[in-house]
Amino acid sequence: MNRSWSFIAGVLATILFSMMGLIFVPNWQFEQLKPVVDQNGISHPTPPAGSVLLGREVYISEGCLYCHSQQVRSADFGADIQRGWGTRRSVARDYIFDRPHLMGTMRTGPDLENIGARQPSREWQYLHLFNPQITSPGSIMPPFHFLFKVVDKGGPAPVGSVDLTANASPTKKASYLVPSGRAQDLVDFLMSLNHSYDLPEAHQ
Ligand code: HEC
Repeated sequence: MNRSWSFIAGVLATILFSMMGLIFVPNWQFEQLKPVVDQNGISHPTPPAGSVLLGREVYISEGCLYCHSQQVRSADFGADIQRGWGTRRSVARDYIFDRPHLMGTMRTGPDLENIGARQPSREWQYLHLFNPQITSPGSIMPPFHFLFKVVDKGGPAPVGSVDLTANASPTKKASYLVPSGRAQDLVDFLMSLNHSYDLPEAHQ
């Protein structure tokens, strides 16, 4: 009997010790991470707000996460930097405002951690989301037609619209591509994905 108590105490101590090392201590360490403020007073990373937060919700609900990761691996672990997905590896501090984090595990498409730096044209983003084949022939990314309205040319261009040539338009007439509010928010979010600022620990 005496022995079984010490056995149970040993098991409990092992579980507690593992929880301390694997859950509580790392959690506490990550909670201490704060943004780094540069000489211009800008904090990195910047907390997302307004349309960027709304666009983040669209990103989650449309399942972009199932094909796109948001994490750049160091040069020792993969070719991410060589592929142009970032200039440095991602570190824990990059994700302090990213809740729930969207690091992802699937890479059917390219990593988007720095897409705002790599592809800063709103027009390109709208055309690509509407029909990836327009900007990237042969793309297997699904089109997100339902985030846009197509308006035949005739009147003045609707505010914020993009020109669609007859080739790219589903109506086969030259038309305007009008992004919905959700499409605008999603592109605001994509443009905000720029982690090219420097962090000291990324070089360690
Ligand atoms: C079924 C997988 C799949 C889904 C879902 C998907 N994508 Fe893609 N995405 C791809 C592939 C493959 C590419 C590469 C070819 C291309 O550029 O279209 C790509 C490319 C991209 C690019 C260009 C990246 C670059 O480096 O040029 C962006 C931006 C993008 N996707 C955003 C999105 C967003 C936003 C969503 C959700 C609304 C989404 N994707 C959903 C597969 C996917």
